[in-house]
Amino acid sequence: MSRVLIFGPGFLGEKLQAALPDAVLSTARIDDAEDVRAALDEHQPDYVLNAAGKTGTPNVDWCESNKLATYRSNTIGPLILAEACQERGAHLTHLASGCVFYGPSPDPKGWREDDHANPSATYSRSKYAADLLLSTLPNVAILRLRMPIDSTPGPRNLITKLANYPKIIDVENSVTIVDDLIEVVKQVMEKRGVGVFHATNPGTMRHRDLIRLYDELVDLSHTNEWISNDDLVTLGLATKGRSNCILQSTRLQALGVTMRPIEIALRDCMEKYAAAVRAAETVKVS
Ligand SMILES: NC(=O)c1ccc[n+]([C@@H]2O[C@H](COP(=O)([O-])OP(=O)(O)OC[C@H]3O[C@@H](n4cnc5c(N)ncnc54)[C@H](OP(=O)(O)O)[C@@H]3O)[C@@H](O)[C@H]2O)c1
Repeated sequence: MSRVLIFGPGFLGEKLQAALPDAVLSTARIDDAEDVRAALDEHQPDYVLNAAGKTGTPNVDWCESNKLATYRSNTIGPLILAEACQERGAHLTHLASGCVFYGPSPDPKGWREDDHANPSATYSRSKYAADLLLSTLPNVAILRLRMPIDSTPGPRNLITKLANYPKIIDVENSVTIVDDLIEVVKQVMEKRGVGVFHATNPGTMRHRDLIRLYDELVDLSHTNEWISNDDLVTLGLATKGRSNCILQSTRLQALGVTMRPIEIALRDCMEKYAAAVRAAETVKVS
């Protein structure tokens, strides 16, 4: 039986550990080489998954005023982890971000895995810096995901976040359904994928698509105001403009790993989300 060790006990680390029942979720700090080596020597994993990183609280704007802490966790930490994995022959899967791309791609089909990115915000820069280093190493898979959408309601879930915002932008994006990401992680590990992979569902989603499904399946009485992307910063709702982009995913396909088209995956996810909301309401009234 292959051993999997996950770093980063946050939103995605916990989801992935639940989906990989034999995996161990470590609380070691990845920017501490001693901590990392001790965890690897204790658990002797065949596969390591890096779900650790500074994503900012309450959001990535935190990274603008905490640059060095962001670089330690998002750039230096992954490099320390990669070095320790290389020394021990363990395969490393690193959760990266598609938010390293801003705006339209040179290829109308979307940004490719080997395109040079154009990150603007501190968070995106720190993630891209790690990609640039890790993508030169053998035995490392870099999975770029975007705006993960999950079927469990919660403050880190895009559905919950958008449904609670009174003002929402409507932009077309590549996104990642978490159930599909879990399958991608399992398969990329098994196949010992190497290099950058775009782990986004085929097709694109507008924020309106998500809210339309939410209104249909979760809350018929939900309302919100629509604002432009530029309004996010001018209204003071964000410090830095957010990445909006469309990715193509040829390398994942070439590895024989597929994700469901976004329309199908999003509806399935929203149906499960609605069921979870109804179950929670039933518990509340009983
Ligand atoms: N959620 C998204 O929208 C998204 C999108 C694309 C990519 N990703 C990437 O996916 C990964 C997981 O994201 P997430 O949504 O699960 O974030 P999360 O909920 O913030 O979890 C990240 C976890 O990593 C921990 N961490 C931070 N620095 C660490 C370090 N140096 N050593 C060990 N643990 C550390 C955090 O704890 P403390 O903060 O307490 O240190 C937190 O428990 C991140 O690398 C993120 O960049 C996320």
